[in-house]
Amino acid sequence: TRGRGVQAAAFQVRGSGCGSETNFSEQVVESFPSDIPTGIYYGWACVGNGDVHKMVVSIGWNPFYKNIKKSVETHIIHTFKEDFYGEILSIVITGYIRPEKNFDSLDALILAIQEDIEEAKRQLDLPEHLKLKEDNFFHLPEGKIVNNR
Ligand SMILES: Cc1cc2nc3c(=O)[nH]c(=O)nc-3n(C[C@H](O)[C@H](O)[C@H](O)COP(=O)(O)O)c2cc1C
Repeated sequence: TRGRGVQAAAFQVRGSGCGSETNFSEQVVESFPSDIPTGIYYGWACVGNGDVHKMVVSIGWNPFYKNIKKSVETHIIHTFKEDFYGEILSIVITGYIRPEKNFDSLDALILAIQEDIEEAKRQLDLPEHLKLKEDNFFHLPEGKIVNNR
């Protein structure tokens, strides 16, 4: 716990991503603290030694797609020029948006994700969230990776 009332959880793992969506491997998802309630969160993300960007992350079962396996899907709010397979993805979760829901249509799901992104952008501009962007966690040398299994 850092800061005033802001609970932060930090994870650093090798990810694979295309565009701005990244998925953690099954093993990594299993190593996540199981007491984190499923739902949609926001925070900061960094790929390799790159810049730190705003992100939203969905932790759960994606009811719309009826997933059998729990997934942790990070959507980085930034357009990358290149894909980043095998890079280290570091994320710091700083806040919660909403529980996972089912939707009647893909359009409704996409609209909800867009609203999540807008909410994340607003929240992350607040000083208590902004200061976690500068956290040393994002500049750890590779040898100090936490939670990489
Ligand atoms: C911010 C965010 C919120 C999400 N919320 C839900 C949700 O409430 N219910 C659900 O079934 N899946 C949810 N998902 C997972 C989507 O089912 C999954 O990301 C899907 O691939 C998105 O499709 P799209 O790339 O066409 O937008 C969410 C994903 C993100 C990144």
